[in-house]
Amino acid sequence: MSSTATALETPRTSIIDAVATEVRTSLSTTPKTLSPWLFYDEAGSRLFEQITELPEYYLTRTERGIFAAHADEIIRQAGDSQMLTLIELGAGTATKTGILLAAAVRKQGSIVYQPVDVSETALAEASENIQANIPGVTVRVQVADYTREPLPLNRLPNTRTLALYIGSSIGNFSPKDATEVLRNLRAQLLPGDVLLLGTDLGPSRYKDEATLLAAYDDASGVTAAFNRNVLARLNRDLGANFDLSAFRHKALWNAAESRIEMHLESLTAQRVHIPANGCKPILTVDFAPGETIHTENSYKFTQASVDALLKSAGFTPAHSWQDSRRLFAVNLATAV
Ligand code: AVI
Repeated sequence: MSSTATALETPRTSIIDAVATEVRTSLSTTPKTLSPWLFYDEAGSRLFEQITELPEYYLTRTERGIFAAHADEIIRQAGDSQMLTLIELGAGTATKTGILLAAAVRKQGSIVYQPVDVSETALAEASENIQANIPGVTVRVQVADYTREPLPLNRLPNTRTLALYIGSSIGNFSPKDATEVLRNLRAQLLPGDVLLLGTDLGPSRYKDEATLLAAYDDASGVTAAFNRNVLARLNRDLGANFDLSAFRHKALWNAAESRIEMHLESLTAQRVHIPANGCKPILTVDFAPGETIHTENSYKFTQASVDALLKSAGFTPAHSWQDSRRLFAVNLATAV
């Protein structure tokens, strides 16, 4: 078994430059926005791990439950009579993937698993856990940003690739960008390769809006802390002087766009200074009372909208598994 990082983690200075560039454009426009990738510094990644364990945040445990109930069937349908290799986009610490890997080892004896993520430390943890707990898995970690760079896909002879894109991560892209991400993935697969896509479902006769909203506004305030951490990050990385207590976490359901939106609402009229890594003049941002920074969209799907997205990206929907409460869907599709 081997575990090889193919690239070094992005140097800290270039991350800070990227943060500064993002802030200069997104906070000087109206309405003000910040891109959700800014959430995931070390503190934000830890807070996100906590979110996934909250009672209100049903997404992670529901998807895990679907895997636990259907892993053998998912792997059988994905692989058919072929050997599978598994690549995972945005794998993080890959806590749910072990269920599918164990099913693949049951079916074919061994499997090569290629998790791709921007975080080398998360990948190291994933690799260690999987190799310690699931004999038969060869882990080849790949440090890369699959949204900006072509996937570092190592194709093995006579195998079918199963691409995993789970956790409803696709929901954090606009419909146009989601199509683009999946099209780029499709372009690197061969006809007959397969995609397993995890999608959160919108309100329906099974799921009320309150369930959805609570997942993004939990009683213990972890999601609020996750949202506000983006301002703390700008203070840490760029020397900004955001007063975190002067911004309120706000989550709302936008039915017309079928998405949860997260905002940070300014409680007062205030001026914030952002040295932004020595940029001159220092960026000054004024907030009116009640003005918000839009920090995240989390799109929710119907089976029809998932299927339409898959088709627009060059995949044929093959099967979908949902939990008994119809909260979440795991979708298998074949590259055309
Ligand atoms: C990572 N992503 C799928 C999460 C979501 O549900 O959209 C991010 C998140 N934002 C707030 N809570 C969780």
